[in-house]
Amino acid sequence: MSTDVMIEARDLSKVYGSYRAIDRLNFKIKKGEVVGFLGPNGAGKSTTMRILTCFIGPSSGTAIVGGNDVFANPLGARSIVGYLPQRAPLYPEMGVIEYLQFAANIRAIPQLERKMSIRKVIDICGLADALEKDIGELSHGYRQRVGLAQALLHNPPILILDEPTSDLDPNEKAEFIEYLKAIGKDRTVMLSTHNLAEVEASCPRVIIVSRGKIVADGGPTDLAARSGKARYVMILDEQSRTSPSGSAHRSSGGLPLGEVLEGIRQTIPSAETKELPSDEREHVIQILAPSTKDFRRELFSLAVDKGWVLLELRREVIQLEEVFRDLTVGAEAGSRLDKAGIRRAAEEDDEDEDDDEDEDDQDEDGEDEDDDDDKEEDDKSRSKS
Ligand SMILES: Nc1ncnc2c1ncn2[C@@H]1O[C@H](COP(=O)(O)OP(=O)(O)OP(=O)(O)O)[C@@H](O)[C@H]1O
Ligand SMILES: [Mg+2]
Repeated sequence: MSTDVMIEARDLSKVYGSYRAIDRLNFKIKKGEVVGFLGPNGAGKSTTMRILTCFIGPSSGTAIVGGNDVFANPLGARSIVGYLPQRAPLYPEMGVIEYLQFAANIRAIPQLERKMSIRKVIDICGLADALEKDIGELSHGYRQRVGLAQALLHNPPILILDEPTSDLDPNEKAEFIEYLKAIGKDRTVMLSTHNLAEVEASCPRVIIVSRGKIVADGGPTDLAARSGKARYVMILDEQSRTSPSGSAHRSSGGLPLGEVLEGIRQTIPSAETKELPSDEREHVIQILAPSTKDFRRELFSLAVDKGWVLLELRREVIQLEEVFRDLTVGAEAGSRLDKAGIRRAAEEDDEDEDDDEDEDDQDEDGEDEDDDDDKEEDDKSRSKS
């Protein structure tokens, strides 16, 4: 292994019964890289991170963290990693300082450096306002800051952060992203998140997992370009049409959505269409089409031919979010939708105006299934230390 590789997964697998939570993952993360680890709920992100931080062992394969094999030298691996579990297990009856002193003790930070280390993480994590309170009295966001503070306490060269910003407010998120960029310069950071804007802002590299397998690995912009799709947004007046002379007039029956979607499909057979939220005076249509051609002229001509009043037509660079959905929706959300009998946008009938845009919100929920595990693992680690 070259010396600047800080984290390496080699055919890493974890099997629960007959279920493969992660399936032969291979990746290398070098010194100074900040890598976003993405995937839908249940994709295997936390499982991978727990293996890398030696909280659980792999079923097969191995991982090497800072030159330490997680089987052969788990203590060595742990000593150079700062880990923020998805739900940081904290002791509610402890005060913030008391907890950080406890964590410093576990990390065996020398007495002389302890005060300074604690002061530093209090500053970094914005904990000054919370010092008088017991952890049990803190809001979710502040508890997350305490969890993050303990991960940073020993100034580790490798940080593994499992959804570090999920409970932070927007101001804190933005500050945390800035902080990540700063510390990422001389550290290795792997963070999981469901916030794709955050990844685009802070991670030069993204690894996307789905059903325990890596489905993409690269820069967010490269991944977006590789998707091969472009997005168009077309806004039409729902209440008027143009006459052959070109003047707009109020149309009695309005402009049916079905007619619009059918027209678009006939013009671009491979298009995926979906109506975006709007007021009742407009149809706002999102169209995903191959990026090999610019379809704006065709869409404009379609509107003219049909007498639709075109209020806006724009072509946008496809975002990481679309790539993510493209690579993972079939695996997770898609199967849920199928089970519930709901068709995806690409499969919608003309009259089916429902959309699935809030799946990601749904994904944010229901992620606390492993809380107990985290607590248990952390307790185990403390008793080992
Ligand atoms: N202790 C366990 N026993 C059985 N199955 C488990 C256990 N821990 C995790 N799994 C399963 O492994 C899969 C991957 O879980 P993991 O927590 O790694 O997902 P994740 O990508 O972190 O998801 P999320 O975004 O919801 O945090 C899930 O299907 C989960 O139910
Ligand atoms: Mg997780």
